[in-house]
Amino acid sequence: MVNTIGVIGLGVMGSNIALNMAGKGEQVAVYNYTRDLTDKLMEKSEGQPLSPYYELKDFVQSLEKPRKIFLMVTAGKAVDSVIDSLVPLLEEGDVIMDGGNSHYEDTERRYDRLKAEEIGYLGIGISGGEVGALTGPSIMPGGDLDVYEKAAPILTKIAAQVGNSPCCTYIGPKGAGHFVKMVHNGIEYADMQLIAEAYTFLREKLQLSIDEIADIFETWNQGELKSYLIEITAEILRKKDDRTGGPLIDVILDKTGQKGTGKWTSMQAIDNGIPSSIITESLFARYLSSLKEERVAAEKILAGPAEEEWHLDKNVWIDYVRQALYMGKVCAYAQGFAQYKMTSELYGWNLKLSDIALIFRGGCIIRAEFLNLISEAYNEQPDLSNLLIAPFFAEKLKDYQTGLRKVVCEGISSGISFPALSTALSYYDGYRTGRSNASLLQAQRDYFGAHTYERTDIEGVFHTEWNE
Ligand code: 6PG
Repeated sequence: MVNTIGVIGLGVMGSNIALNMAGKGEQVAVYNYTRDLTDKLMEKSEGQPLSPYYELKDFVQSLEKPRKIFLMVTAGKAVDSVIDSLVPLLEEGDVIMDGGNSHYEDTERRYDRLKAEEIGYLGIGISGGEVGALTGPSIMPGGDLDVYEKAAPILTKIAAQVGNSPCCTYIGPKGAGHFVKMVHNGIEYADMQLIAEAYTFLREKLQLSIDEIADIFETWNQGELKSYLIEITAEILRKKDDRTGGPLIDVILDKTGQKGTGKWTSMQAIDNGIPSSIITESLFARYLSSLKEERVAAEKILAGPAEEEWHLDKNVWIDYVRQALYMGKVCAYAQGFAQYKMTSELYGWNLKLSDIALIFRGGCIIRAEFLNLISEAYNEQPDLSNLLIAPFFAEKLKDYQTGLRKVVCEGISSGISFPALSTALSYYDGYRTGRSNASLLQAQRDYFGAHTYERTDIEGVFHTEWNE
């Protein structure tokens, strides 16, 4: 039997990728470190072109050359150990692809190692969760272009399709694919947090019922906010709990988990001087949520603001929340794409921001209607320094800032925590401030540490004896 591709790691994601490939006519060899998952997949895939192997050597030998092997194993040490076992069995020109959420620096290290062995290595960001893996994810491959070309026919076939274009494109060298996926997840954290804050305002400030809020999200999903995360939020809010009969959301413990990709995004931004504040605040919001016991205790100790009478026109405020959410999302995506641009320049990756926006339109968790507009913005100006100043968005935010300002002010004065929305507004205001208070910080640094400063009117580096 000659198989066209092999998949190693048959957890839910790996199994679904294998089934996706088989469904697209590939002859797929599958292997898992333990036999049980292989058997489980074979049971549910009867009649599909999948062949199970229980010895890695047999698996490798069954593949047509150059061999193409897709790893779907847990990011970290497991990837290195599978590579260690594979290398002695492979030949020059074979290709290993890592489809897990590996850190892009690990991918670069593995790429260098395998390059020395003349084995191709692609770090492939995959987004879309379990369903996406099966029906078509968004795929972000990084590595050598000629290596990508060997795998491209399969990758583009299994990716989500928007119209006639596959949500898969060559991203850039070495770790670029996993880097793009990592920041995708950072944007995902921010997007989710912004939605959660909009929900809080609707529920706590406007005192709307869960069903009314679900209706609002459904309506928003018909317009310019149309996106996967808005869509699933409406569905989540409608879900009833079998045990209590009430909304399931009300019995879900309010502690958010995370697997690290959002944290890596923030760490990379911090290390490289990239202001990814909304993404980072969203990460911190997850950390704060995990201090559940402390929060419950503090609720009894710390006072909130006195309640003020509030005359509201509900519909006007619902539209303010819509504007706030849209603007918050634009700011979050602007930060993520600025992180792409700045990092691309740092590493000389030549990332095509317009193409990245295009492959995010289908399959992935942050897929959203406005990615078309983001793509257009970068298409028109590939060197655009920030999405906020793209003509379409600048014009849109001119109007929508009213909603964001109102919601942030009203929410904050009512004692609602708004880490992402308020940070989005601060980012917008900070970014549009031509002359900022950083001059005072520079003066302070020079005062106590003789750190020097530059001047606005003449070139040079200056120090002042502030006490003289
Ligand atoms: C995707 C998701 C997926 C996953 C991450 C983030 O694009 O399909 O981003 O990779 O949901 O594991 O999850 P955490 O919230 O657990 O960090």
